[in-house]
Amino acid sequence: MTDIDTLIANTIREDVRAGLHYKVPDASGYIKLDAMENPYELPRHLRQALAARLADAMLNRYPVPSYSTLKDSICAKLGVPAGYDVILGNGSDEIITILATACARQDKRAVVLAPTPAFVMFQRSAQFAGMDYVGVPLKADFSLDRAAMLAAIQQHKPSLVFLAYPNNPTGNLYDADDMIAIIEALGETGIAVVDEAYQPFARTSFMARLPQYPNLVVMRTLSKLGLAGIRLGYLAAAPQLLDQFDKVRPPYNVNVLTQVAAEFALEHLDILDRQAAQLNAARDELAASMAALPGVTVFPSSANFITVRVPDAERTCATLFAEKVLIKNLSKMHVLLANCIRVTVSTPEENAIFLNALKASL
Ligand SMILES: Cc1ncc(COP(=O)(O)O)c(C=O)c1O
Repeated sequence: MTDIDTLIANTIREDVRAGLHYKVPDASGYIKLDAMENPYELPRHLRQALAARLADAMLNRYPVPSYSTLKDSICAKLGVPAGYDVILGNGSDEIITILATACARQDKRAVVLAPTPAFVMFQRSAQFAGMDYVGVPLKADFSLDRAAMLAAIQQHKPSLVFLAYPNNPTGNLYDADDMIAIIEALGETGIAVVDEAYQPFARTSFMARLPQYPNLVVMRTLSKLGLAGIRLGYLAAAPQLLDQFDKVRPPYNVNVLTQVAAEFALEHLDILDRQAAQLNAARDELAASMAALPGVTVFPSSANFITVRVPDAERTCATLFAEKVLIKNLSKMHVLLANCIRVTVSTPEENAIFLNALKASL
């Protein structure tokens, strides 16, 4: 009889066997403020109209592989410059995997570099693709350490540099001049990926700069805008670069239901934009309320979440958990995040429940 453990030892990569899952806690019965989702749904009449569209989707057929209708709609409505195009991913998570897969050269050391703390999938995707990952610490105020970034680029010659704008888990926007210095330093040797997952809240973007820098690519997602469930990310770049990335994209990676739902949502972008504006106002209100609490340091956020330092993050998270509120304890992620927690901005009701529980924990 085949012993399953021996089979695993003989077949599965050592780093995968030793590694951990991407943890997502079970949220049933909890107020979910740990994943930067939009708490608002589409209005009922629009959900009904969407249902009718979905009913006509051809589930018996593979998606049309060019995805041209959806791509055209994204380019037209989301500010992709003329002459530039997009590729689509099953969430921007998949785009990150595609980028790493395409750049994981075997004939020389291939490196992914990012300022840290950063979105964890940058490191995980680099590892799974067999690339080295170099993290360059941010400054204590979470701004880019331009000199350290430029020195690390010189030393490690990364093929990919990820800059989340705004950054997760810190919430801030980096200084645009620092980012440009990095993009220019990479020149022909590396691709700068500006990850704009939180752009609907930041209302600033590197998209319009694409024509200025051939090595710049801009990645976004519909997840934070209110469509996390459909899983759709996109990458805008020069067509020649996209052509290369498209070769490693799994065929039919975006399913027909997602395609229909995304096209529908883009017809009603004004509603999603209004929700984002509402969340921005709620964020500023929540940040001000937290800043007034003793021992709490609120870091500036241009996203739909807020990172704060509390006296005892473990205690705060335990209190919130007991009150059925899920947030993220960032403490163990990076030394710069000691006693930091991250909370997603939600409805006024959920924000108030969070705030009361936070007060009780202090
Ligand atoms: C900075 C950043 N990039 C990308 C993603 C992935 O988004 P999705 O795969 O839902 O498109 C996230 C999700 O939290 C994120 O914070």
